[in-house]
Amino acid sequence: MAAANSVWISLLVSIIIVILFIQAVPTAHSQNDEDQLIWAKRVVSGNQVITNLQFYFHDVVGGRNPSAIRIAEAPQTKNSTTFFGSLMMIDDALTVGPDPASKPVGRARGMYGSAGQTDFGLIMALSYVFSDGIYDGSSFSMLSINPATETVREMAVVGGTGLFRMARGYAIARTYWLNAATGDAIVGYNVTILTYV
Ligand SMILES: *[C@@H]1O[C@H](CO)[C@@H](O)[C@H](O)[C@H]1NC(C)=O
Ligand SMILES: *[C@@H]1O[C@H](CO)[C@@H](O)[C@H](O)[C@H]1NC(C)=O
Repeated sequence: MAAANSVWISLLVSIIIVILFIQAVPTAHSQNDEDQLIWAKRVVSGNQVITNLQFYFHDVVGGRNPSAIRIAEAPQTKNSTTFFGSLMMIDDALTVGPDPASKPVGRARGMYGSAGQTDFGLIMALSYVFSDGIYDGSSFSMLSINPATETVREMAVVGGTGLFRMARGYAIARTYWLNAATGDAIVGYNVTILTYV
């Protein structure tokens, strides 16, 4: 009888803990957080909006369905150890997680080219166009040098559309996975963007 009672008591305690936890979740939201997606956090302070985006960029160069294709190169590119002069057009998936099958949140469209003669450096001229939640249809523009072989790179965000109108900011990128044979890469992005209400 005593054993049966203690089972009931521990069950009751578990239920109470679950109820307390469920009730605690809504109060964890800050008043400033107008919309919290897994990958996007928007904080309004006065007339300024700071948005932090975290997503993964999938650059598929090899295989049958590349999302990045070489559209031009110079005669000297073949002799260059840094592929100087080659230009790629891309339409790369952006997802919430490093797994290419994770939820898509947008696409990176535009060009990157090899702009370094002595060391490997890409020039990124891309629009990152989003398709999830309140960011559906909004984009930011990146125009920046990208020393892609470095572990961590910082790149400039120079403008945007929709919720990213008047955007200024920066992106911190880290290569999450690289296939040295094909050049395929998965890159983690942390982007900080300043806009106005
Ligand atoms: C590439 O290198 C080869 C061998 O050194 C040379 O013959 C050729 O002219 C070079 N091509 C260009 C476009 O510089
Ligand atoms: C963003 O930065 C944080 C802190 O350094 C890190 O934990 C997280 O993995 C980064 N996200 C991505 C997508 O790289």
